[in-house]
Amino acid sequence: LNAAGERVFDLTAQRGTSEFVPGVTTDTWGYNGSYLGPTLVAERGENVRINVANNLQEATSVHWHGMSLPAKMDGGPHQMVEPGAKWSPNFTIDQPAATLWYHPHPDGATEHQVEMGLAGLFLIQDDEEAALNLPRSYGVDDIPVVVQDRRFNAKGQFTSDVRGYIGPIGDQLLVNGTLAPYVDVTTEVVRLRLVNGSTARVYDFGLSDGRSFDLIGTDGGLLTEAASMDDIRLSPGERAEILVPLKPGETVKLQSTPPNLGTSAGAATRNAGDDTLDVLELRAADSLGSIGALSTTLANIEPLEKADASVDRSFTLNGYTINNRLMDMTRIDETVEAGATEVWTVDNAMPLPHNFHVHAVQFQVLRVGTKSPPAELSGWKDTIYLEPGVRYELIMQFSNYTDPNFPYMFHCHMLAHEDAGMMGQFVVV
Ligand code: C2O
Ligand code: CU
Ligand code: CU
Repeated sequence: LNAAGERVFDLTAQRGTSEFVPGVTTDTWGYNGSYLGPTLVAERGENVRINVANNLQEATSVHWHGMSLPAKMDGGPHQMVEPGAKWSPNFTIDQPAATLWYHPHPDGATEHQVEMGLAGLFLIQDDEEAALNLPRSYGVDDIPVVVQDRRFNAKGQFTSDVRGYIGPIGDQLLVNGTLAPYVDVTTEVVRLRLVNGSTARVYDFGLSDGRSFDLIGTDGGLLTEAASMDDIRLSPGERAEILVPLKPGETVKLQSTPPNLGTSAGAATRNAGDDTLDVLELRAADSLGSIGALSTTLANIEPLEKADASVDRSFTLNGYTINNRLMDMTRIDETVEAGATEVWTVDNAMPLPHNFHVHAVQFQVLRVGTKSPPAELSGWKDTIYLEPGVRYELIMQFSNYTDPNFPYMFHCHMLAHEDAGMMGQFVVV
């Protein structure tokens, strides 16, 4: 804490090298290191300040994905940090315990900076989550799993040459910056915080022997209750917290199998929906610590009511446009009233994958086509996969942080699409 009572973090974006493959040096970027960045942890109610420095040779920004905060602090394309410059946003953590993340957001150049390694986790803790019986020893029984697909060229450098419509598709996975990772598990249940940190690829995560796991949280925090599932689809930017049961001495793998993208088979193949990849090997010790009966009733989530929504907006994703417009830094697309509850209806008009992310707010999903949302869409979300031809009805309540001059973004989180202009801007006034 500094003299102003703020919890202070320092993040320096810098260039470096990594040795993912033994003996092979890859040029990478990271925050405070050569790949990815430190996990930032703050409590609900705390004031935080992040001292961002840019030691790259190009301008960057650092966006706090999933965070409710004033638009000037959001780190979108209007908060660029030039090479050699510094930026020190501060804000109050005012939302439930959750797995958020941070990454660059320069207009038109996000994919490359994320691919080089700029990303990190921002965990929020609160008293409600702390009072539950859940694994919460970071790195022991509560393990971040940042998943990124990459491809290496003959010189050991990242290449994004193999691209589908959604962007570059890698043939190897880095998990927290490590190829072929494993973790030694010492407790009979492990909590995995799954983060799709890829630029484009959609995953369907499950366990190698098909065992089920409990989904306990999504993008913006814990669910109301744990939901037993066999697999979970996550598109770029989405997160999920799961509990995996283990038996003494066994080894089981977290894998990604071909996701159902809701597209035709050909489109799925072109968009890398057709390979199975090992994500993380869980190696259970011969004797495992018990953590007792886990909480199954988790968070109290007040459902947002359609009757309270003052505005309905619709968004159609087509080509690289949203509502037939390409991103324009000088155009405000939507103006939202402070504190308003709004329904946003989102359609993917193409037979190909897209997703949708809204800055600075967590939404609830009212309808998926004609259906109520499945468990994985039943809690707080800030990013959602859009199956072609399915209408997603989202409801959200905006904050009271007003600023007529600085907008927040909404966009497809397939970063090639975002860079190509599939993004718009809203202000809260
Ligand atoms: Cu994670 Cu506007 O992004
Ligand atoms: Cu965001
Ligand atoms: Cu898209």
